[in-house]
Amino acid sequence: MRKNNLLSLWDMMALWSAITSLFSKTDDSTTNWIRNRNIVHGNRTRQLLTAFEKYDGGTGRLDAGNISTAFNEVDLYPSRAQVRDMILCASECSNRESRDHILFGEFCIFVTELKEKYERESLLQPLTTDKMKTKHRFLKRQTSSVISRFEVFLGGSCVPSMWRKDIAIPLLKQYGLTYFDPVHEIWGPELVEVENQAKKAADLLLFVFDDVTRGVAAMVEVAYLVGQGRPVILVVTGLPMSGVMINGQTLNDSEVQDLERAHAVLFDLVERQGIPVFDDLPTAVHCAAKVLRMGISVQDLSKADGARGVQNAHISVGESIILIKEAFDGVDTKKTGNLDMNDVRLTYKALTRKDLTIGEVTSICNVSSSRNEELTFNFQEFCCIVDEYKAMATTHNRIGDFFSFIFSGLFTLFGWMKTRTAEQIIMEDLTIRREVFLGGSCANTAWREQIAIPLLRKHGITYFNPQLPVWNLRYLPLENEAKAYCTVLLAVITGETRGLASMVEIAFYIGQDRDLVLSLEDIQGGTVINGHKVTNQELQDYSRGRVYLADAANCHGIPVFTNITEAVECAIKKVYKLSGYS
Ligand SMILES: *[C@@H]1O[C@H](CO)[C@@H](O)[C@H](O)[C@H]1NC(C)=O
Ligand SMILES: *[C@@H]1O[C@H](CO)[C@@H](O)[C@H](O)[C@H]1NC(C)=O
Ligand SMILES: *[C@@H]1O[C@H](CO)[C@@H](O)[C@H](O)[C@H]1NC(C)=O
Ligand SMILES: *[C@@H]1O[C@H](CO)[C@@H](O)[C@H](O)[C@H]1NC(C)=O
Ligand SMILES: *[C@@H]1O[C@H](CO)[C@@H](O)[C@H](O)[C@H]1NC(C)=O
Repeated sequence: MRKNNLLSLWDMMALWSAITSLFSKTDDSTTNWIRNRNIVHGNRTRQLLTAFEKYDGGTGRLDAGNISTAFNEVDLYPSRAQVRDMILCASECSNRESRDHILFGEFCIFVTELKEKYERESLLQPLTTDKMKTKHRFLKRQTSSVISRFEVFLGGSCVPSMWRKDIAIPLLKQYGLTYFDPVHEIWGPELVEVENQAKKAADLLLFVFDDVTRGVAAMVEVAYLVGQGRPVILVVTGLPMSGVMINGQTLNDSEVQDLERAHAVLFDLVERQGIPVFDDLPTAVHCAAKVLRMGISVQDLSKADGARGVQNAHISVGESIILIKEAFDGVDTKKTGNLDMNDVRLTYKALTRKDLTIGEVTSICNVSSSRNEELTFNFQEFCCIVDEYKAMATTHNRIGDFFSFIFSGLFTLFGWMKTRTAEQIIMEDLTIRREVFLGGSCANTAWREQIAIPLLRKHGITYFNPQLPVWNLRYLPLENEAKAYCTVLLAVITGETRGLASMVEIAFYIGQDRDLVLSLEDIQGGTVINGHKVTNQELQDYSRGRVYLADAANCHGIPVFTNITEAVECAIKKVYKLSGYS
């Protein structure tokens, strides 16, 4: 009986609110957010709703392509990688198959998490040291004049793409900028040196990626230059996708996957340096002119210039929503996807160690308080409640980090942390500085267990092995930390893998002058990768990337081996030398 009454009550409420919203064009945007359930919004979430609704196209969901714009609206500038992580975490937490949007409750939590982390970041580093370094290098380069200097080097996709002749060069001429075009009709080996000189001397490096070339070498090149702190402007007008033809051959799916991974790593590295990634070439050329004529750095380009600004790309996002979800599920033992009033308060307390009164919950629910015991809240609504009162908690306690309460709250009140133990172990592991990071080819390789680990153990050297039986995106921050703090990076690119993402990353570290040892095998003709036999054309593109990587390593005095055992032995010697062991 009661249940039926309740249902019809919800229906009536939904109908009523739909009708009132039709007829009363109120100034309050929240009335547009009509659902069949409680409308949860307080002063804080109401503000966020305004930003959200600007870009949700009236659908109540924020599509992948609109997420960063909506965050910009509240003065947050997430990178592509951060947006990808948000979508992934949100989809996992809400058990959604589709990985292409986020909902309002999730949006609130991400905004707050990022805001908090931006704030902490600005307290930690009054001057971002990375940017200072970049600017410094930029100035130094300007004074070291070389013969035949060009302002802009035009790197990236070559034949058959026409972006240089058709778009970039006419525009550069309009802006009166000098440029070096490395594409020659008749190409000879002597041109390599000319090209290298031009690249070294250029004030700005403009790289374009499109969907008619693999761009393997160009990816490695950009990563290397960005690692060196050179001023790069990166434009992505398209990317090779499944079914795309490159030089008359359809890309194989396993290749597309490898290319996608490499692009993701590259864009993340670039955005972590505060360098914007453009999707429109004319805008990028305009920005190049601004950088060169006004002497600003690439990192200072803003939305007003048409650049997609990125800030604090190194911070990880998503942990707060995962913690909230774990708390939610811990109480929602029947897996109904809904919590009642008591459960909401209990879960909130588990997260924050603070009490939430019924009055506080109902004051932000659009219902009459007489039916409190019948109210239920889904995950999105719970996120809104947490976010609303979390904001208040932090105004009372600015320095205290709310989400560290969440962590400790979970430990003390509930035992669900069992599921997290694997991760905890890795985290604890990481507090110990490792000597060697075992980077490079992962899939279907056994060089770590068969060669590297036995040798390192024999010499009593600690290592971090990123190859986990079940890898999860959430390990990425841990992996980055391990990489940042190891003494020597050992990177092995085997001949049985394309190793594109690894090569991009290694190139970046070479640019940064990290202590690195490299083992680089060529892919042989006829090699089968993931069931796909590598064609000659692919072979050419991949070799070009490997040659570029080896050249860069040579320039920085980084040893390059083709024998993994020798590479591991060299890494061991390096550790001994750097740690002062005898
Ligand atoms: C509840 O929503 C209706 C429209 O849906 C609005 O007119 C009313 O002011 C809201 N009440 C509260 C307490 O927010
Ligand atoms: C929300 O805003 C209104 C008007 O600005 C204010 O009167 C009210 O106290 C605020 N509520 C909370 C819980 O801060
Ligand atoms: C983004 O927002 C606009 C409104 O600003 C909307 O028209 C569009 O459908 C949204 N989605 C995408 C993917 O652009
Ligand atoms: C990729 O290669 C495998 C193995 O050769 C083949 O079965 C598959 O059809 C190829 N896919 C495409 C899109 O060419
Ligand atoms: C690699 O080098 C080690 C030690 O120098 C040697 O024993 C081994 O045979 C080499 N392996 C290959 C495949 O050449």
